[in-house]
Amino acid sequence: MQTIFLKGRGDFEEWRAAARLLLLNDIAPGEIAWRIAGKGDALAGFAEPQQLSLPAEKRVVTVPPAFVDLAETAVCHSDPQRFDLLYRLLWRIRGDRHLMQVVSDPDVMAARRLEKSVRRDSHKMKAFVRFKEVASGDPTGRRRSFLAWFEPDHFIVARLAPFFRRRFFDMDWVIATPKGSAAWDGEQLTINDEPAAKPDIRDDADDLWRIYYANIFNPARLKVKAMTSEMPRKYWKNLPEADLIPDLIANAEAKVRQMAEKAASQPPAFHARLRARHGQAETLEAPPSGSWEALREEARRCTRCPLHCHATQTVFGEGPQDARVMLVGEQPGDQEDLSGRPFVGPAGKLFDGVLSDIGVERAGLYVTNAVKHFKYEPRGKRRIHRKPNEAEIAQCRWWLKQEVDLICPSLIVAMGATAYFSLTGERRRLSEVRGQVLNMTEGRRLLVTVHPSYLLRLPDPVAQQRERELFRDDLTAIIQ
Ligand code: URA
Repeated sequence: MQTIFLKGRGDFEEWRAAARLLLLNDIAPGEIAWRIAGKGDALAGFAEPQQLSLPAEKRVVTVPPAFVDLAETAVCHSDPQRFDLLYRLLWRIRGDRHLMQVVSDPDVMAARRLEKSVRRDSHKMKAFVRFKEVASGDPTGRRRSFLAWFEPDHFIVARLAPFFRRRFFDMDWVIATPKGSAAWDGEQLTINDEPAAKPDIRDDADDLWRIYYANIFNPARLKVKAMTSEMPRKYWKNLPEADLIPDLIANAEAKVRQMAEKAASQPPAFHARLRARHGQAETLEAPPSGSWEALREEARRCTRCPLHCHATQTVFGEGPQDARVMLVGEQPGDQEDLSGRPFVGPAGKLFDGVLSDIGVERAGLYVTNAVKHFKYEPRGKRRIHRKPNEAEIAQCRWWLKQEVDLICPSLIVAMGATAYFSLTGERRRLSEVRGQVLNMTEGRRLLVTVHPSYLLRLPDPVAQQRERELFRDDLTAIIQ
């Protein structure tokens, strides 16, 4: 039995020299005991197998590059069995050059596991080493000095030192770990494989950092599982924010609830202004029942369909109560929702323009909508219009009917398919009825035309102008 003593601190050369000698002397894996030399051990640092020499006739061992790549990484693992495992693989590769490609082979699998763990540890070290500035040893004062403490699982300090040199080339630094240290002074990279003692590198900046961390911590985005897998607890403990984390996690749920409550009780400023305005209205004398004012007041509190939940307010019709003509649109848009008045936004502007083209004063018309609440989809800061569905139109039809009954117009203009559906209960293609004057009950007439927003959506200015003229022609019917 050959006993091989290695320092075993991630030095690939140390293991390779021993393995080469063993292999060239045909020593089978079962005949070797790999030992880590202890500190007081007489053989500490002794890497070469005793009483073995390189046979004169065969001095070269060739192995597939895939094995070398794997062995260089896996040898950094802290598992004491790694030397044995790697040598067994090496031994078997002699008889099977393609062994490394047999992914289901138990030895290959075990070595890959070690490799993966070392790579993960290396990744964590790159991510979580935090340098603290310490007194500079440079008498010229030109170079600043930094110290970091990290606790890797494996012997990866020497392997990663060149990475840190590249990354932090222009400062002096020491990375101390229980598995050795690395230091860079601008000229030389020094590796010491002795375990370092944990330095006390706490300072005032830690408190500042902790305050910052606690403030940017977003409990609503907390994913403990992802967090603990990305930054396992063993790494936290050396971070200044570590002792905050358990409390931040424990209170996250309550914090999210608080945030939600706060959000619900603090609507945008314009909601508050509008509520205040409505509040004032409430203190006024109640309008006589059956009047248009009473109807509007009642509609203000409408909860017949869910649209009231997200809209700012009910947008009721407006105009003289003895108006001969009533115009009905679809539903309030963003600006109508905020102002509480129908057709004041872009579609309203176009509508006003067409009325002025035909010499009709809007003030003489009653203008309303089939649906009284704004239906939209929030997109960033914008509220994008959504068409009301049949149930919403049906719920709101009740209000429209009340308006028609109170105003008693002789002509109603349905602008768009939603208004037409609400007024007639019929789903027809607008092009089939557009421009027609239809008879309704009680001698009332119904003129069907397009909605002004339709014109706004036309991308071609020529088509838009043509459609605007057709819309204007339709509306001339209200002059007679
Ligand atoms: N579109 C409508 O149908 N009504 C409005 O009040 C505004 C835009």
